[in-house]
Amino acid sequence: MADVSDKMDASPPATDPVTDWATDYDIFDADYVANPFDVWDDLRDECPIAKTDRWGGSWMPTTYEDVVEMARMVPVLSSRDPIVVRPPDDGPSDHGDAPDASAYTTVNAPPISSDPPVHTWSRRLILPYFSPKATALHEPFTRQLCHDLIDAHIESGQIDGAADYAQQIPPRVIAHLLGVDPGKAGEFTEWVQGVLEVGLSNPAVRTKYRMKIREFFMAEIADRKKNPGDDLISDLLKAEVDGEPVSDLHVAGTCNLLLVAGIDTTWSSIGAALWHLAAHPDDTRQLVEDPSMLPNANEEFLRAYAPVTMARVVDEDAEIQGCPMSAGDKVLMNFPAANRDPAAFEDADKVIIDRQRNRHVAFGVGIHRCAGSNLARMEMEVALGVFLERIPEFSLADPGAVTWAGGQVRGPRHLPIRF
Ligand code: HEM
Repeated sequence: MADVSDKMDASPPATDPVTDWATDYDIFDADYVANPFDVWDDLRDECPIAKTDRWGGSWMPTTYEDVVEMARMVPVLSSRDPIVVRPPDDGPSDHGDAPDASAYTTVNAPPISSDPPVHTWSRRLILPYFSPKATALHEPFTRQLCHDLIDAHIESGQIDGAADYAQQIPPRVIAHLLGVDPGKAGEFTEWVQGVLEVGLSNPAVRTKYRMKIREFFMAEIADRKKNPGDDLISDLLKAEVDGEPVSDLHVAGTCNLLLVAGIDTTWSSIGAALWHLAAHPDDTRQLVEDPSMLPNANEEFLRAYAPVTMARVVDEDAEIQGCPMSAGDKVLMNFPAANRDPAAFEDADKVIIDRQRNRHVAFGVGIHRCAGSNLARMEMEVALGVFLERIPEFSLADPGAVTWAGGQVRGPRHLPIRF
């Protein structure tokens, strides 16, 4: 099955090779995307908060302590634009309600794109849908979906663990949760890649897909107003904050977030875990023999292959963790690097599927900690559990054919597996 990014020019424009990662890092450098771990190790030793002017400029902490500390600096480090690449100066916004939309270039995706007080109530509105109990309601659907995906490939002895499997699961689960047509899963994936992957280095693509997502949800909202249902969108439209209804644009922004936050994150985590298992038959065998180890192993996959880096914007000129930061500077919340810090994890560079002490920050930390973590864990456990049950022995068909996406969300995009 073709990856939707095949339809777009997925590769960021070529840039000059990096000679100094401490002062000129490039988050889209192809070698770095495929293997960022050595760079982070070197930076932690030499310059734990690196800086670059590339891609609109940013700072990048690499130690667990700095990342955790900085994630808690609210609102000195604001979440008003959490995308790792600065938007184009003249790019249109998806706020839509701005008096002059061209004045806004930030993202409308509350609560992830808001600071308190908006963050507090917009997060509270969605949390009930992601409790362990609410999440468990989607488990049978997810399990059946995973079996159906394997059924389609089991006879052939090969499957693309990313494009044919991992990528297919989250968009359908999110559609199930939002109460929208799961038949549009392919389009949802294309839109999310348009915004968060290809669009990161191509503003026109980013704007196009942002608009598609907003138009889709505004139409769903209009429909729910005429025909309210028993679903998340209808509930959000009924919600009140301080006696006032929540605006349609806020609801559309939250739905946008749930679509974007729930798709390539989870698919990247499932794909990275399959990539690891395909190359580590001992770990695979242990999990096949004792599936009760899976939840623990999952946490280790999340630690070691954490997919998500978020950004903050410096609110006013300040010295932060010893660095002279200016108002408007971006800071990359490098949760994946924090998870590999030897000061915080024993044998940080090793994947130990029965690791006991594992306070990883793959889901972030502080007020923005992932609201969907129960859902993500359920999807990962079901996806990996079904895969191991149906395909207990497998390996990479062609390690050189594996491709990775990076930047905001890192994970495999092509993962040819044979069994
Ligand atoms: C393995 C999969 C996932 C990973 C690694 C992940 C990671 C993260 C991270 C690092 C943050 C913190 C953002 C920040 O500090 O700015 C976050 C926030 C968030 N995530 Fe996830 N996520 C995953 C799956 C999901 C899923 C399935 C959903 C639900 C559809 C979801 C919904 C959210 C929401 C709503 C927020 C914003 C919370 C807030 O701002 O208060 N995530 N996620």
